Amino acid sequence: MLARGSPVKLPPTTIAIETKLPNLVTSLPGPKAVNVIARDAQFVSPSYTRGYPLVAKYGRGAMVEDVDGNVFLDFAAGIAVVSTGHCHPRVVEAIQKQAAELIHISGTDFYLPNMVELAQRLGAIAPGAGPKKVFFGNSGTEAIEAAIKLARYHTRRDKIIAFHGCFHGRTLGALSLTASKAVQRKGFGSLLAGIFHIPYPNSYRCPYGHPSPCDCVEAATFLETEIFKRLVDPSEVAAVFIEPIQGEGGYVPAPEKFLLELERICRKHGILLVCDEVQSGMGRTGKWWAGDHAGIEPDIICVAKGIASGMPLSATIARASLMDWKPGAHASTFGGNPVCIAAALVTMDLLETQYIENARRMGEFLMARMADWPSRHKIVGDVRGKGLMIGVEIVHDQKTKERAPDLREHIVNRAFEKGVLLLGAGENTVRVCPPLMIDEEQADFAARTLEECIHEVESSV
Ligand SMILES: Cc1ncc(COP(=O)(O)O)c(C=O)c1O
Repeated sequence: MLARGSPVKLPPTTIAIETKLPNLVTSLPGPKAVNVIARDAQFVSPSYTRGYPLVAKYGRGAMVEDVDGNVFLDFAAGIAVVSTGHCHPRVVEAIQKQAAELIHISGTDFYLPNMVELAQRLGAIAPGAGPKKVFFGNSGTEAIEAAIKLARYHTRRDKIIAFHGCFHGRTLGALSLTASKAVQRKGFGSLLAGIFHIPYPNSYRCPYGHPSPCDCVEAATFLETEIFKRLVDPSEVAAVFIEPIQGEGGYVPAPEKFLLELERICRKHGILLVCDEVQSGMGRTGKWWAGDHAGIEPDIICVAKGIASGMPLSATIARASLMDWKPGAHASTFGGNPVCIAAALVTMDLLETQYIENARRMGEFLMARMADWPSRHKIVGDVRGKGLMIGVEIVHDQKTKERAPDLREHIVNRAFEKGVLLLGAGENTVRVCPPLMIDEEQADFAARTLEECIHEVESSV
């Protein structure tokens, strides 16, 4: 009989468990980082979009240590992924335990007890009464692929509506819905046919020209007043895909009235409402789902990123009656891998008992610090978001709202130089998406640093 291994100890790092704030010990990038970046240029695909030279080695909580021993406060969370923080001891323990028991068997061919448990728990938190079923994949784009296929399969319709600015992934089906940046589509030839894109509701920049703030209900009624009259009959539309808060497009929350109107229109025409909660879900907004703030009940929800604290896992959750595809219709060798599922189960425990509430509280704390920035900083056009999904839109001119991608880049780079990791979103927005376990001291430090960077950049123009 094989011996069962005892859990492995975490490797030593200068990030003590109580380290909460940055500590920079070299100029950036440090010598080891420079070496890795040079080799990366030689051997790694040039399609990645690195903004600044962080070469990460260790992570603990909201802190990341680079290869040269510099410690950063991480307000990017691996693109809104490490919901419980880096290497949460309970997540690490669950991964180690599961890895020692069974790493892989494939849920496509065999049954797994923890896959059933996770499906049941995800079904229970999905909005709407009635039983749900779950398909597991490895990434956000796979969750979207599954939703596209399921919607077409179930409705026997093939047309899909999506929104300008939305990002749904990069595999060819999901890419056909993505309308975020042309570079993401350029060079890849024709995509899925039958996809119609319409303007996304943006309260700050209403696509129909109304003053800000705007409910943008017209962004939903446009379906009936224009699209269903001129381009496609609603009886041929399988689904509408929407991010309830646009992520890569610039951290833009869809107004609640708009979401309710969109849901009403979908119901009226038998069109499935699919919420892409890959970035906004799993508690980031202070509720399980961003759509919960409006009270909508999507037919399908796509989840990934924060679901397993950094392990690759995605879920496509649908009403049980809707998930009516037959064996062999869709599957995945790795999707629902036991180690990832073990991480997800503990992640859900931590979110449920502590971190969703913490995301709500810390989101309010940050918003209280940041909401008046447009009145205090001439290059801040808008501050918006829910929970720990906050966007700060940078403009050249508050009146004309001319976008300032160059200034946004300076701000994000300055923050890095001061030890705070941030990312851009959309053309000109700074995204604030820390792990959901940050505390007030960290939120305060990040807000203060970001404001300092904004001040320095606006003083230089
Ligand atoms: C809303 C949304 N959907 C889908 C995706 C694709 O996820 P992945 O990169 O895991 O394929 C992303 C990634 O940023 C996303 O933000």
